[in-house]
Amino acid sequence: GHVVVLAGGLSYEREVSLRSGRRVADALRALEIPVELRDADATLLDSLTDDPPDAVFPVLHGAAGEDGSIRDVLELLDVRYIGARPDACRVAWDKPTAKSVVRRAGLQTPDSVALPKEVFHDLGAASVLDQIVRSLGLPLFVKPTRGGSALGASAVHDASELSAAMVGCFAYGDAALVERYVPGTEIAVSVIERGGKATALPAVEIVAPGGLYDYTARYDAGDTEFVTPARLTPEAAERATAAAVTAHHALGLRDVSRTDLIVDDEGEVHFLEVNVAPGMTETSLLPRAVSVAGLDLGEVCRDLILARF
Ligand code: DAL
Ligand code: MG
Repeated sequence: GHVVVLAGGLSYEREVSLRSGRRVADALRALEIPVELRDADATLLDSLTDDPPDAVFPVLHGAAGEDGSIRDVLELLDVRYIGARPDACRVAWDKPTAKSVVRRAGLQTPDSVALPKEVFHDLGAASVLDQIVRSLGLPLFVKPTRGGSALGASAVHDASELSAAMVGCFAYGDAALVERYVPGTEIAVSVIERGGKATALPAVEIVAPGGLYDYTARYDAGDTEFVTPARLTPEAAERATAAAVTAHHALGLRDVSRTDLIVDDEGEVHFLEVNVAPGMTETSLLPRAVSVAGLDLGEVCRDLILARF
């Protein structure tokens, strides 16, 4: 038998996914597990049918990988796979929906509005933007409602920057999430299910150059400083951990997730988003938390696979 690590795909995060996939494949091979690293291309269905793997580890970021559609195919094929089911992915992938689910579960999340591209154009950009600034205030953060790796995302400190931020966002998605920008410490908390229990790894604090954790800051080694565990009071660290586990459960996720949060100056935790296929590259957050926790990435991945049997 063998394990298929699925990476690549056609999303904007293809390159990131290939890096993540190589990392996971190498970590599993180091444990002498037979691995096929496979692109999610048009031949995937046939090859999974002709040579069924023991399990699939989807390391596909962005659309198809995180929106549930590839996992729908895996369900149809009755193939074991690691990670959340398609329906849970659909909810988690849509940031406004995920925010409302976790809010109902008791978490705080910055106030926001979601704006489809057509509405933005039909209503006249200027009046819509005016209204947004009046209702949410400044600064703001703009990002595609569905997306990852900060592609199309930007901070808006002055009302005059909002229009360009929206246009930049619509280059990557059909709808924009305009969120109140909460100043504070940016952290990521990874959750891994071990022995049937969702367990949070140490929070990773992100200190990005110029305060913006953009695509370059994410993937160019050395650009961003990470502090693990994050510099938080024990109470705030506890709240952050609890928030990530709450988000994991409230969204019905499985095996692995990473929740991105802001801890404000009062130590209050604010949910930004959750990732169902967290980055696994050399500079990514989950592998960092795994190693600070004294765990081995390959063993963590292997245990997730074994737990499927
Ligand atoms: N979307 C990227 C891969 C991440 O969340 O790590
Ligand atoms: Mg994300």
